[in-house]
Amino acid sequence: MDLFRKKPLAIPQNTGAEKLSKTLGAMDLTMLGVGAIIGTGIFVMTGVAAAEHAGPGLVISFILAGFACVLSALCYSEFASTLPVSGSAYAYSYVAFGELLAWVLGWDLVLEYGVAAAAVSSGWSGYFQGLLEGFGIHLPTALSGAYNADKGTIINLPAVVIILLISYLLTRGVKETARFNAVMVAIKISVVLLFLVTGVFYVKPENWTPFLPFGFHGVVNGAATVFFAYIGFDAISTAAEEVKRPQRDLPIGIISSLAICTVLYIAVSLVLTGIVPYQNLNVSDPVSFALRFVDQNMIAGLISVGAIAGMTTVLLVMLFGQTRLLFAISRDGLLPQSLSKVSPKTHTPVRSTWMVGGLIAVLTGFVPLDRLANLTSIGTLFAFLVVSLGVIVLRRTKTDLRRGFKVPWVPFIPLLSAAACGYLMYNLGRETWIGFLIWLAVGLLIYGLYGYKRSNLNTKK
Ligand code: ALA
Repeated sequence: MDLFRKKPLAIPQNTGAEKLSKTLGAMDLTMLGVGAIIGTGIFVMTGVAAAEHAGPGLVISFILAGFACVLSALCYSEFASTLPVSGSAYAYSYVAFGELLAWVLGWDLVLEYGVAAAAVSSGWSGYFQGLLEGFGIHLPTALSGAYNADKGTIINLPAVVIILLISYLLTRGVKETARFNAVMVAIKISVVLLFLVTGVFYVKPENWTPFLPFGFHGVVNGAATVFFAYIGFDAISTAAEEVKRPQRDLPIGIISSLAICTVLYIAVSLVLTGIVPYQNLNVSDPVSFALRFVDQNMIAGLISVGAIAGMTTVLLVMLFGQTRLLFAISRDGLLPQSLSKVSPKTHTPVRSTWMVGGLIAVLTGFVPLDRLANLTSIGTLFAFLVVSLGVIVLRRTKTDLRRGFKVPWVPFIPLLSAAACGYLMYNLGRETWIGFLIWLAVGLLIYGLYGYKRSNLNTKK
């Protein structure tokens, strides 16, 4: 039994008719990254993080989570520039650590993208309902949120509907995705800037005191919560096979999209907690709420529309990423081949898209946002941790590979990155850990019963 059999680097990834065309440059990748990153995290979760965890110290939470992400982004960049293949962290660990860990990571990323999509659609629903209320339309309580006996909510209907709509869009074949994405990203960045330039005039520095009402402990919990806001830069590496000059462009795309978002997040958290006393921020659309709080209703409405558009692109990228990942895993034989079947008409994996979309719709319909988001975060942090350690392993085992980008101070930076991710994971709470461990156990079971035998590495021996 060989649980650590490694995929040779030379396995051709895309040949003949399956070859993806290489069209993306550094700028497209940066846009793709920002499109995947800015969403529910900044538009929604900042509220709960400030009200319940960090207070005005939210800005420090963003700096801490951003720090962990920058370190991981360096590690992702080295991998992406060394092994520009689709499948991201899954593919990297197939080469660095062998099949078992690759499967665990692939399964973990399925969780990341799937649950992230559920979480983002739940945030989408909050803004959408806020907007409807602006027009005097109220959804029946039972249909307005995930099941909660105290509040009388049963299902989050708008969240279910948007997931099904996006799934439909994806099965139709997403043409001109890059251009559509670029427009949406421009809207998204504009509303964030609009919030900043309007909001800054209403900041009352007294709202920043006490700065750390829940102590440093609260700030760290806040960092674990808002880590969700940074997720997405890692998704850029899934586009690796479509990049013109991957060795150069992938690291630029990953690092610059993260840098742009970090700066915006720090500014937004400062202004948000400066406008509204942090205790009031526990609402489902805090960024718009802050402007309504100071009677800027018009601009608040514009921001809601922009946020809804922005969260829609995150949904697209996450669902898209998930079907790509399932495609890569089933291509290696670890999941049934039917998941990599592409419809001859639309050239999209119709069956797996609907399967995934259906499951996510159920999740988002019945599970509340904070649980979904924390589960996404723990899964992503685990992937970051493994990728960070993978950099050290690959430097030792594959000394002769050409690396377009190199992490400085190896092994110090990768170790620091792994430690930072581990620390944030540790702060995510018991319930999240239990969910994560159950998911991993199910994954191992599937590998034992199916993947180990069906793997290409097994059958092609
Ligand atoms: N970072 C993405 C968001 O906040 C997942 O929506």
